[in-house]
Amino acid sequence: MMPKISRCFLLLIVSVFVVMQFFRPERNVEPTGAQNILPADMHASGEVQKILATSCFDCHSNHTNYPWYSNIQPVGWWLKTHITEGKEALNFSDFKNLGPIRRRSKLESVLKQIQQNKMPLPAYIKLHPESKMNNQQKKIISQWIKVVNK
Ligand code: HEC
Repeated sequence: MMPKISRCFLLLIVSVFVVMQFFRPERNVEPTGAQNILPADMHASGEVQKILATSCFDCHSNHTNYPWYSNIQPVGWWLKTHITEGKEALNFSDFKNLGPIRRRSKLESVLKQIQQNKMPLPAYIKLHPESKMNNQQKKIISQWIKVVNK
């Protein structure tokens, strides 16, 4: 038999967890899905789009592909923080509204983050191993950025 005090404590913890589930963060999703995030005049090949979709769009676009565990709080809140901060720093869905100078500087910072292996975030790579970029993928993205930023 558990002592009464620890039973009360356990009940409290469970109740807090249950109540948390009612506070769901707003979702970052577009009705159109992750289609055509980059505007046509950026000439991103299917390959480029696929790499960015796999490694970056979840936190840097208006459409996140949510994993099942995002439905469990506080995990959903934690993901929401990454998405909000990520989109503040860089939102690929905004490129259509950006002029050439802003685009250029955003893409330069993308290049830097990729070359220094800072992105995707390490915690994200742990949960999505396929998002880690290999040298070939980095090369494809760098070459694309060089052409766009010419
Ligand atoms: C799990 C979410 C997540 C993923 C996936 C992710 N990022 Fe980020 N990114 C962030 C967050 C959060 C920030 C802002 C805080 C920071 O710099 O750590 C950020 C910041 C950035 C910045 C701005 C850095 C600066 O110093 O101004 C760039 C550029 C960037 N990310 C590029 C990328 C690229 C390119 C990918 C894909 C290869 C990617 N990110 C994948 C969450 C993410």
